[in-house]
Amino acid sequence: MKLELRGITKRFGDFTANDSIDLVVESGTVHALLGENGAGKSTLMNVLFGLYDADGGQILLDDEPVVFVGPGDAMAAGIGMVHQHFMLVPVFTVAESVMLGHEEVRGPAKLLDLDAARARVKEISDRFGFHIDPDATIENLSVGAQQRVEIIKALSQDAKVLILDEPTAVLTPQETDELLEIIGQLRDAGTAVVLITHKLREVKAIADHITVIRRGKVVGTAEPTASQEELASLMVGRDVSMTVSKDAAQPGDPMLEVENLSVVDEATSIKHLDSVSFEVRRGEILAVAGVQGNGQTELAEAILGIVAAAEGNVKLDGEVITGRSIRQALDAGIGFVPEDRTEDGVVADFTITNNLILDLYDKAPYSKAGAIDRRYASQNAAEQVERFDVRTTSSEALAGSLSGGNQQKVVLARELARDLKLLIASQPTRGLDVGSIEFVHKRIIEERDKGAAVLIVSSELDEVYALADRIAVMYHGRIVDIVSPDTDRDTLGLMMAGAHEEEAA
Ligand SMILES: Nc1ncnc2c1ncn2[C@@H]1O[C@H](COP(=O)(O)OP(=O)(O)O)[C@@H](O)[C@H]1O
Ligand SMILES: [Mg+2]
Repeated sequence: MKLELRGITKRFGDFTANDSIDLVVESGTVHALLGENGAGKSTLMNVLFGLYDADGGQILLDDEPVVFVGPGDAMAAGIGMVHQHFMLVPVFTVAESVMLGHEEVRGPAKLLDLDAARARVKEISDRFGFHIDPDATIENLSVGAQQRVEIIKALSQDAKVLILDEPTAVLTPQETDELLEIIGQLRDAGTAVVLITHKLREVKAIADHITVIRRGKVVGTAEPTASQEELASLMVGRDVSMTVSKDAAQPGDPMLEVENLSVVDEATSIKHLDSVSFEVRRGEILAVAGVQGNGQTELAEAILGIVAAAEGNVKLDGEVITGRSIRQALDAGIGFVPEDRTEDGVVADFTITNNLILDLYDKAPYSKAGAIDRRYASQNAAEQVERFDVRTTSSEALAGSLSGGNQQKVVLARELARDLKLLIASQPTRGLDVGSIEFVHKRIIEERDKGAAVLIVSSELDEVYALADRIAVMYHGRIVDIVSPDTDRDTLGLMMAGAHEEEAA
């Protein structure tokens, strides 16, 4: 099967999100659609999937023009899509989810009963080695497994073209490798795969063809043999250095001291954090590496007081801060970039302007006689939006209207605007494009060089290596070891998988 998009244009009001885009995808190939956040990738795929009406252009299947009025039409024509945000219902089983997906399908691919759905799940799971139990409940599955369920759903509808929108954004390095392997298998089985991503490593690993879009337009096509630098500069529109240079750290006195910190889930008595001790000095970046779910989130949250510590102490600049309020911790000089920006990072129904002064609204110069000084607030917003390249039509837009990457930039801009003793950043560049990652990494290093202690939590090894002066590896709520950034990827990977502990046991 050949799928062709010809001159697709999509406008939102007077904003052109897709400007006459051409794309051809053939069976048995992986076509990467590469572009920064906000480039228009999801919009294009939503047009293709019948979710949006195009303002111009044509979709052709095997050279025949087709019109999709809704996703049902697209699915019936053999197009499947795994969205950036999964659309599964948590309390359903896998088989139920797959059956449900068929309600919209018109024509022969319809699944009618649960037994048939179960059998179909098992068949597809076995064929591709997905290891998915048809009777498992969605909420009990890992993110990676939920994604495989979405893929099974699409395949059960006989998808000949599978669109994956930023599928690895939510995956660990290991899960990413597994997914890339699955994509390879699907290709070999004859599926046409459209892989939407901004991650160059993945594109180079799996794509057969690459189309790069920037600000709604196709700016070039490339072969997977192109270097990361070439791809990055096409994507961003300027030269991008893939490695941020940094001088050797000049560590001073301990700024953050963590002693025997534990976090216990009261309901289950599971120890999320198990007697963790370490210190971070002024002028030093300690990066915590680990597969997601090994206590890193709890560590960051316990230092700040978002979750209560069952035991242990946290000292900032020599003073015990355990048991203080989050507000007090922030006021004491901690900057915090949370892992889940939509939940803890921005207030969705506040404007960008107000989000940028969330921690500062009660302080000069923003506060004048108890009210927010709008002039300072807007001036600040204009500066930060420019510096952090927040893609928005206006600073008065609601934070909730921004893409995830742009929300992240707002959080970073706000937290880095204060004088910090300690910066704690969890997954600081998740969802950001290469251009923005370079900028954020530079800013974090600047913070270190100004004398702050920096604690980074990241499940991206590239990021850990780019930033760390020392690397703490976490596994099952404990720090396995703290090692130098000269430690190689394989060794680190093994430590992250707990190989260390099993050896010792
Ligand atoms: N429903 C919408 N209404 C208005 N603007 C939108 C809508 N969806 C996307 N946009 C805008 O279109 C641009 C492209 O968005 P999107 O296709 O989601 O980008 P990508 O997937 O490449 O990150 C962004 O600037 C975004 O703000
Ligand atoms: Mg998108």
